[in-house]
Amino acid sequence: MKNIKAIIFDAYGTLFDVNSAAEKCKDKIGDKWEAFANYWRTTQLEYTWLRSLMKRHKDFWQVTEDSLDKSMKVFNIDNSMRNELLDLYKILSPYPEVPEILKSLKEKKYKLSILSNGTPSLLNELVKSNNLENLFDDVFSIEEVGIYKPDSKVYHLPIKKYKIKNNEVAFLSANTWDVSGGGNYGFNSIWVNRNNSIFDNLDYRPQYEVKSLKELITII
Ligand code: LAC
Repeated sequence: MKNIKAIIFDAYGTLFDVNSAAEKCKDKIGDKWEAFANYWRTTQLEYTWLRSLMKRHKDFWQVTEDSLDKSMKVFNIDNSMRNELLDLYKILSPYPEVPEILKSLKEKKYKLSILSNGTPSLLNELVKSNNLENLFDDVFSIEEVGIYKPDSKVYHLPIKKYKIKNNEVAFLSANTWDVSGGGNYGFNSIWVNRNNSIFDNLDYRPQYEVKSLKELITII
């Protein structure tokens, strides 16, 4: 990949493990914890897309709460778990390779940033609770444009700030639809395919697919 000036990461599912909140409660939730975590995540994303289409924006934290409430009802999870799950969602764990890879990319002098649906305070808390705050040049939140990914206004945020071209960005996401969104906008999208999943049919194919961020070092 040539002429890359900025490496931009999606947050949820890419740097931070969205299932880690429910996983930490698996003794209380039982075997259904993973199905529940996946349902919560899918519902949360559906609400972002639906709210963007309806032009009824609510921030990502409110959407996370709304989707949790539905998911807890669907999976018959006692309401006493609500606050614990939400508190854990604020301090999600990063995937194991994330800190070391960010450090080595930082030494190579790329602009490093996060571009996410999360609110600025959620994202800053996540970065801080995992001691990653010195590694990012910027944390871009969709709250600046008031519409969720994959609206192109979102992907334009770092371009506007860094005054670079779309194809000077390497954009990494584990979310296939976000890879397509960034690619459609003109980024060099890289799919972080941690679970050997199948890509979407949205008329975009990423040039690169990696199993973890470790492989990034050989691409860029
Ligand atoms: C984000 C979601 C898409 O961080 O994972 O923007």
